[in-house]
Amino acid sequence: MPDKDTENRVTEAEDPEFTPEMNPPARDATPEEVPQKAGIIQRFLAMPTDSVAKTLVVAVAVCLVASMVVSAAAVALRPIQQVNALKDKQINILQVAGIYDPEVNVIEAFQAFEPRVLELETGTFTDRFDPAAFDDRAAADDPEISVALADDPAGIGRQSEYVTVYLLRDAEGAIDKVILPISGYGLWSTLYGFIALEENGNDIFALQFYEHAETPGLGAEVDNPRWKALWHGKKLADDQGELQISVSKSAPPAGDEFHIDALAGATLTTVGIDNLVKFWMGERGYGPFLDNLKAGDI
Ligand SMILES: Cc1cc2nc3c(=O)[nH]c(=O)nc-3n(C[C@H](O)[C@H](O)[C@H](O)COP(=O)(O)O)c2cc1C
Repeated sequence: MPDKDTENRVTEAEDPEFTPEMNPPARDATPEEVPQKAGIIQRFLAMPTDSVAKTLVVAVAVCLVASMVVSAAAVALRPIQQVNALKDKQINILQVAGIYDPEVNVIEAFQAFEPRVLELETGTFTDRFDPAAFDDRAAADDPEISVALADDPAGIGRQSEYVTVYLLRDAEGAIDKVILPISGYGLWSTLYGFIALEENGNDIFALQFYEHAETPGLGAEVDNPRWKALWHGKKLADDQGELQISVSKSAPPAGDEFHIDALAGATLTTVGIDNLVKFWMGERGYGPFLDNLKAGDI
């Protein structure tokens, strides 16, 4: 239906003295001009574009549509994210064990490992959980199988009683390396990684973090291959079984074979790594397991 403005418009053909100023500028119909019978959408469209109500309705509608798109994408992509996170973790385990080959399929290469769920207190394996399905991070939050740490040098808050470890065996079936998950707080973040030990449970083969949020160029130098290479061949404990490993600016009295140099300009991340390594390699971490390994009971 033409509105009042349109009805009253004149054209050059109708009036020889026509000037454009004779016609009022086009404008939105006021709500009163919209027939009462018009639908809610027509009434909404007829509202002035700069009205507060119309602006709010449009803003809310845009937010709703955008949030639905984001939610749908998040749900649809979650399985892919989980597969990629698992693959990344497996690549890190292969790397820390020194057997990663980018040309080889990760799932196939990962078959080289024997994952086992370890009971930390006894240092023995348990069949209570399926290693393929056991979620170490979820376990640390599960009050049934984890404890809140009052004395918490690694800054992990809660510790699971069970952890998944990975055994790498040689052609004869003897243990060649053990890959142990480690975690602890640096300066800004919890660092998650793995330490690979030789079959004697004392010599370090490698250490590698796969997740952290330390500062690039400072704490994030934990990922620098030159710094990671410092770990190879270092020892955890001395001949008396005393834990001597130290990540610090200067070598400990026990000697250089137990020392990894600090990260330059990142003393706080370094202290965090020193703490977490001592915690996980000690009595409340893998100590009982390493004793069993050294005794040949694994
Ligand atoms: C923006 C910013 C980011 C930093 N990030 C880190 C870090 O990730 N790890 C760390 O240990 N120190 C970091 N630092 C430096 C610490 O504040 C502190 O100065 C440093 O750990 C001392 O190390 P140094 O004794 O080797 O100089 C950062 C400092 C700034 C200003």
